[in-house]
Amino acid sequence: MRWLPGPHRRTFTVLWRIIDFIEIRIKEHQENLDPSSPRDYIDSFLIEMGENQDKDAGFDLKNVCFCALDLFLAGTETATTTLHWGLLYMIYYPDIQERVQAEIDAVIGSSRQPSVSDRENLPYTNAVIHEIQRMGNVIPLNVFHKTNRDTTLDKYNIPKGTIIMPTLNSVLHDESMWETPHTFNPQHFLDQDGKFRKREAFLPFSAGQRVCPGEQLARMELFLFFTSLLQRFSFSPAAGEQPSLEFQMGGTRSAKPYRLCAALR
Ligand code: HEM
Repeated sequence: MRWLPGPHRRTFTVLWRIIDFIEIRIKEHQENLDPSSPRDYIDSFLIEMGENQDKDAGFDLKNVCFCALDLFLAGTETATTTLHWGLLYMIYYPDIQERVQAEIDAVIGSSRQPSVSDRENLPYTNAVIHEIQRMGNVIPLNVFHKTNRDTTLDKYNIPKGTIIMPTLNSVLHDESMWETPHTFNPQHFLDQDGKFRKREAFLPFSAGQRVCPGEQLARMELFLFFTSLLQRFSFSPAAGEQPSLEFQMGGTRSAKPYRLCAALR
């Protein structure tokens, strides 16, 4: 790939810059490590590794670097892209934005920051965030898997070594599971009394043994960023510009670049 001209070459340059950054951080962690008080993931990894690196067991310095890189790559693009979708849906559906703001005003007010414990008291906001994830559908094809033994699923025999794409797109828009599968509709996640209701087909983080390990963190991030933004600002399209819900495909399924106005409330 290094010899082929094209934009992908910038990817490698940027990637190496991130790797250099992580390596510096690992050195800093090693210099002032206190095994009795791990501060974060890197500390915990270094403590588990001990003095002797065991490459076969996955405990060596190269692997702590690539595991940290993994968390950065998997954790930043996905959550950011979801928030991009979130603000886009809010300028597309101003009445829904207003309802979210009214709920935030009533439950949290404007003088303190939202906290995760507010989530259960904000069923409408929570439903909107779930619907943003469902319609945002940021990893539509999921991550590829491979059968490690002959497998029978329903009436299908899948031989060992078959590559599987357990698509999330089909589940998130399944016509037998959602009342209005192709329309942004927070009611999908609300019962008749306006209480939040979980849905079996809500699987943006996939399922099973390889389910996204960052799910809980991502859900906290989405809630805190989304509510904090709407608590402080009202969002509207840039003057004379019509928001579009068209997507573009890259590492994730993301909204086409758009501009918005953020007015302090
Ligand atoms: C809205 C945010 C996110 C979405 C929609 C999302 C979704 C997913 C999906 C669909 C997978 C594939 C699961 C499978 O193979 O079946 C995955 C894997 C993964 N995610 Fe997330 N994710 C998000 C945020 C995060 C965050 C915040 C982190 C960590 C800081 C993270 C770390 C990972 C890692 C390390 C994997 C690979 C796990 C493995 O291969 O076993 N993700 N994620």
